[in-house]
Amino acid sequence: MIILGIETTCDETGLALIEFKNKKFRILNHKLRSQYLVHAPYGGIVPILTAREHRKNLPILYRDLIHEINFDEKKIDYLAFAIGPGLPPALLAGKDFVFRLAIKLKKKIIPVNHLIAHFYSVLIKKDYFSLWQELRKIDFPALGLLISGGHTILVYFESLEKYKKIGETIDDAIGESLDKSARILNLEYPGGPKLEKLAKKGKPIFNLPYPLMLTNNFNFSFSGLKTAFWELVEDIKRYNKLDESTKADLAASYQKTAFEILLIKTKKAYEKFKPQSIIISGGVASNQFLRNLFKKYFSNQKIIFPQKSLATDNGIKIAFCGYFFLEKALEARNLDINSNLKI
Ligand code: KG4
Ligand code: ZN
Repeated sequence: MIILGIETTCDETGLALIEFKNKKFRILNHKLRSQYLVHAPYGGIVPILTAREHRKNLPILYRDLIHEINFDEKKIDYLAFAIGPGLPPALLAGKDFVFRLAIKLKKKIIPVNHLIAHFYSVLIKKDYFSLWQELRKIDFPALGLLISGGHTILVYFESLEKYKKIGETIDDAIGESLDKSARILNLEYPGGPKLEKLAKKGKPIFNLPYPLMLTNNFNFSFSGLKTAFWELVEDIKRYNKLDESTKADLAASYQKTAFEILLIKTKKAYEKFKPQSIIISGGVASNQFLRNLFKKYFSNQKIIFPQKSLATDNGIKIAFCGYFFLEKALEARNLDINSNLKI
């Protein structure tokens, strides 16, 4: 069976072909085009431009995906499409493309929840891999932490199929907060990876607040932290020049505080739910400082991250996740997006 995965929830256009054969998976080819250069001059994502870029990129990437490996598109069995959550213009651009392709190929579409696909991404390997071996990596019940540009969510997994959300951010997502604080330091969008690089050269010498730490739930808040950071930077600028070493110390301080907030809440959830393993996914999970922090604290527990290149948005995880939801496959005419889709 061959599944084509399509990702257009935000600013990445992702396409992937995955083959499933004899209980093994193989990525036949994949294509990913980021739009960060288009959005960088605006300091953040401009929703309407995402649609323009997806509409432009999808046919080009699809053609390359197929032609590079001399693939006959008639061999595609299903199209898996991330129907949400995401930006409505971006999702609509993807939907138009998927709709037309599904009609042309006379194939069904598997609607995929982008957030759930992030969790499934921890099972994917870049080579030919056995799903059953990979599934053994997760012991249930498991605690899932999704940390991306749009979401910060804690999920309790009884099994891969049975799960419930136990906490989430009440304002900014962690990735969004890293991007905004990076912007305060004049780093380009997307700021998360640039902040990580800069933080390596600095020390976390500045104190920042830890919001919602005393509440008796598993929710997060990052907008107050970002405001406190902005005030700190403004204070420094009033009396000193914001030189490179101070910027590096600020980056290290912000990163440490933001990730410790994630760790403290995850610890709380761990103590209450006593899971057998912890799954951490989403774009921010590519951060090495965060990985080390969590691995150090949960050194005696099973803690699972996706391969770094698969942590951020891509078509591979959509195709892969689609495989688990084959029974949801629908005719193209019934396809709909859901920009507010939840876990
Ligand atoms: O999962 P993702 O690709 O998109 C969403 O579903 O939102 O996550 C994108 C987010 C951005 O905020 C980006 O700055 C952040 O992930 N990110 C990182 C790193 N790489 C990507 N944050 C911190 N460190 C990184 N290395
Ligand atoms: Zn994502």
